[in-house]
Amino acid sequence: MSDGGEVVGLDNLNAYYDPALKHARLARLRQHDGFSFHRLDLTDQHGMQALFAKHRFRQVVHLAAQAGVRYSIDAPQQYISSNIAGFCTLLECCVQNGVRHLLYASSSSVYGDTEETPFSEKDAADRPRSLYAATKRAGELLAYSHACIHGLPSTGIRYFTVYGPWGRPDMAAMTFAEDLRAERPLKVFGDGRQRRAFTYIDDAVMGTLAILERGAPARQPAAALYNLGSDQDVELLEFIRILAREMRCEYEIEFHPEPPGEMRATLPDISAMRRDLGFEPGTELKQGLREFARWFREYCG
Ligand SMILES: NC(=O)c1ccc[n+]([C@@H]2O[C@H](COP(=O)([O-])OP(=O)(O)OC[C@H]3O[C@@H](n4cnc5c(N)ncnc54)[C@H](O)[C@@H]3O)[C@@H](O)[C@H]2O)c1
Repeated sequence: MSDGGEVVGLDNLNAYYDPALKHARLARLRQHDGFSFHRLDLTDQHGMQALFAKHRFRQVVHLAAQAGVRYSIDAPQQYISSNIAGFCTLLECCVQNGVRHLLYASSSSVYGDTEETPFSEKDAADRPRSLYAATKRAGELLAYSHACIHGLPSTGIRYFTVYGPWGRPDMAAMTFAEDLRAERPLKVFGDGRQRRAFTYIDDAVMGTLAILERGAPARQPAAALYNLGSDQDVELLEFIRILAREMRCEYEIEFHPEPPGEMRATLPDISAMRRDLGFEPGTELKQGLREFARWFREYCG
C-alpha cells in the first residue's frame, strides 16, 4: 500500500463480537490505494482456491482465527473449524500457489502449563490449558509439517496480550473501559495478581512488519516461531489502576472465581526477536493506555 504494493484482505466478518467494529476498521483500510477486500470463510475451499489463483500472492499474513480462551469452552467446534480446518485450507492454497512466505498468528497461550517464565520459543509448549491454545499449537505443528513436506516457508508469531485502539471487545482493556464508563464494578476473575506482557498494538504491528520485511526463514525446515510481546511484567490490578486513571474514573472491583483455562503469568523471552529482527517494544503501558482511552472516548462515546 504505502510502498506501492497491493494488499488483499480476507475476513468472514462473523458475529463473535459486534461486526460494526469490523466494518469500521475495514472502512479505514479501504481509504488506502492498493487495498481490496473479500468476504470469505477460510473453510470455503473453492472460494479460497479461486482467490489464491487470481492474485498469486507472494506473501500471506494470516491473522484470521476464532480467538478467545473463555469462548472455546462453549463453542469448541468453531475453533476446530477456523483454526485447524480453515488454517489447513490456507496452507494448501499457499503450497499450490507458490507463496514465498507465510506469516501466521499463534499465541502466548500455547505455553499453557510451562512452569518457568519468561517463556522461550525453546520450551516444549505441549500442555495447553484451553482448547483455543490447543488449536493454536496445532496450527504451528501443521505449518511445520508443511515446511517439511512441501517446503512452504512460514513464521508463526506468538503474540502476547495485545491491546490498543480498535482492539477486540472481549479483551481486558475494552471490557474494563465499558464498565468504567457505565460506573459498574469491574469484574476480575481470580485475585487480579495474574501477570501479563500487555503489548501495545503499534509494537505488535512493528514486529510483524519486521518479520515480513526480513522474509522467509533461512534454516531448513523453514518454519520459524517468535514470541512477540512487551518485556514489561504487569499485574492485572496495575493495568486496571492505570486505565482508570487515564479514563479519569473512580472504580470498584468485584472478584469472581478464576475460570478454567486461565494462565497465572504469560511473559515472553523476546531475545530471539531482538537478536534476529532488532525488535524493541517501545510503548510504555501508561502511554499505550492513554492512546487507547483517547480512541475509546472517540469511538465508543
Ligand atoms: N489480540 C491478542 O491479544 C492476541 C494474542 C495472541 C494471539 N492472537 C491472535 O492474533 C490474531 C488476531 O487476533 P485479534 O485479537 O485481532 O482477533 P479478531 O477476532 O479481532 O480478528 C480475527 C478475525 O478473523 C475473522 N475470522 C474468524 N474466523 C474466520 C474464518 N473462518 N474465515 C475468515 N475469517 C475469520 C474474524 O471475523 C475476525 O475479524 C488471531 O489469530 C488471534 O488468535 C491475538
